[in-house]
Amino acid sequence: MISAKIVGLGKYLPPKILTNFDLEKMVDTSDEWITTRTGIKTRHIVEDNTPASFLAKKAALQALRRAQIKPENIELIIVATITPDCQFPSTACFLQSELKAYKAACFDVSGACAGFVYALTCAWQFLKTGFYKNALVVGSEVLSSITDWQDRSTCVLFGDGAGAAVLVPSKEEGFMSAYLGADGSQADLLILPAGGSRMPTSLESINTRLHYIKMKGNELFRMAVRVMVESAEKALSKAGLSSKDVSWLVPHQANKRIIDAVAKRLGIPEERVCVNIDRYGNMSSASTAIALCEAWEEGGIKKKDIVVLDAFGGGLVWGSCVIRWI
Ligand code: ACO
Repeated sequence: MISAKIVGLGKYLPPKILTNFDLEKMVDTSDEWITTRTGIKTRHIVEDNTPASFLAKKAALQALRRAQIKPENIELIIVATITPDCQFPSTACFLQSELKAYKAACFDVSGACAGFVYALTCAWQFLKTGFYKNALVVGSEVLSSITDWQDRSTCVLFGDGAGAAVLVPSKEEGFMSAYLGADGSQADLLILPAGGSRMPTSLESINTRLHYIKMKGNELFRMAVRVMVESAEKALSKAGLSSKDVSWLVPHQANKRIIDAVAKRLGIPEERVCVNIDRYGNMSSASTAIALCEAWEEGGIKKKDIVVLDAFGGGLVWGSCVIRWI
């Protein structure tokens, strides 16, 4: 085996939809501001106390059905999430129990919006070396549970959802390359400050709303464009390709203006760029997973197409995968 390939994709969006007009009634904002600054019109939100593993299970079952692999035969489960069911056990363990996939090793990846790309890259390495015969990779987020619904600068951005992929080893080159990067010195640009060992939960941390996402949007915006372009270029170059070879760009969905700027700098026409931010907002690790699933469901991705996943998020972390679709 020289590589790995994706043999099943799935997604799940909770049924409840929150529109920009709903948000107008909650904070001082407008549909016009949200649409022009972000490209978002609606996002899906779970009912209270729905865990990430619930969304993950729905997406995983669809991906496994499409892959024609029974849950009990799965050998590895990786869940990318920043909204795990609990600090521990891992959401992957909760998912394993829900799926009754008791043969599988399980762990979570905390890679924020780049989590799915990090997790796919891990799975690919395990398969390439022959360590496992298949892997289930899920990006699942309940961002509504860490969103400050009184903060207009962040609450208009996020949504809930899950996307899943089933991978198996391949004699042909499916996964061609990946590039992963990080800069921990910029952690304060996007952070959930309280609730960990750095700042355990206290009455004060709750009263000062430190259990919600804190984001310096402007600084992130500039970095996101530069880093996503560099990351995609580095991964393509490792595969011996350039952006001219890209059939589909599957970028993280943080802001439509970021997606447009990245695609323009890479010279990839907009009809080759997968976008769902208008319907779903930013779902962190689930965004690229669901965008990939939808591109495949809509019949856009054909055999031999070059698909590039390209993501950036809190950490800071970033990464890209180059896949030849087989
Ligand atoms: N409605 C109305 N006005 C608003 C809103 C709102 N929802 N939010 C902010 N404003 C106001 C601000 O208060 C500010 O007003 P002022 O000029 O009077 O001070 C004005 O709008 C401009 O605010 P900016 O923050 O400069 O707006 P900007 O154009 O930068 O857009 C945004 C903000 C959408 C957050 C953008 O910066 C962005 O998308 N950043 C990148 C986010 C990102 O990449 N995140 C990483 C991945 S996410 C993850 O890892 C979980």
